Amino acid sequence: MNVSERIKDLAPKSLRRLSRRIRADFKAAPNRHLSAQDVFAKVYAEGMWGGTPGVFFSGPGSNEEAARPYAEFVTQFMKDRDVNSVVDLGCGDFRVGSLIAASGVSYTGVDVVDLLIADNMRRYGSPSVRFQCTDITAGPLPDGDLCLVREVFQHLSNAQVSATLAKLSKYKYALITEVHPDDFQHYQINRDKPHGASSRLAHFSVLCLDKPPFNLTGAQLVLETSPPYFSAYAIYGQSFNLKTFLTSRT
Ligand SMILES: C[S@@+](CC[C@H](N)C(=O)[O-])C[C@H]1O[C@@H](n2cnc3c(N)ncnc32)[C@H](O)[C@@H]1O
Repeated sequence: MNVSERIKDLAPKSLRRLSRRIRADFKAAPNRHLSAQDVFAKVYAEGMWGGTPGVFFSGPGSNEEAARPYAEFVTQFMKDRDVNSVVDLGCGDFRVGSLIAASGVSYTGVDVVDLLIADNMRRYGSPSVRFQCTDITAGPLPDGDLCLVREVFQHLSNAQVSATLAKLSKYKYALITEVHPDDFQHYQINRDKPHGASSRLAHFSVLCLDKPPFNLTGAQLVLETSPPYFSAYAIYGQSFNLKTFLTSRT
């Protein structure tokens, strides 16, 4: 163990958390002045979420072992509610979407990264699987019965989350999926962050849509899983869950 590692080891956990939060804030700060297209095109081009160079990769959260219980839940949900069309906002590399589209439902994936959308279209496009390049916080969203927003809001600023939430009322159902720590003690609810590769957890923020400034009412927790990749976040012994909330137009 070198000296800096030793110092880190001796520092109290509170100081280590603060230092981690400051580093995350500092690293993400320049994104405030960049468009979503520029920010997330760079995330993919530089492989900030991992994967093989030159291949679009949306991160370990989209790996099958993490996505399978979610996809099974969504597929059953669509059957039960007679859902014929799905719009997947921030669809990423389509590894999760493909598990849902496999049911034969009409699927439209939306993402802000134009090269990713072109790649998805070329590889996976079909009469029932379409992709659209749109900034979900600003542009018009495609029609559909069910809207999915999985592990997207954690990468957006509060203003961008609010702008997107305001558009979800056009869908009969929306399923919003985000990471929550088991214990909120060290996290600030809805602490703002700039959009970018880092998750809110890195900024010690946790997204609670029913709390200010979002104040979403009527959302119901419908699925909770604990995918293995969260161990990467569990640096201070916390555990994390992926929670899916349903909002319905009634
Ligand atoms: C972590 S990935 C999640 C991908 C997918 N939902 C999943 O669960 O596998 C987040 C995705 O949101 C997209 N995204 C971020 N900001 C966006 C915006 N303003 N408009 C559309 N897509 C956006 C990113 O390009 C990225 O593909």
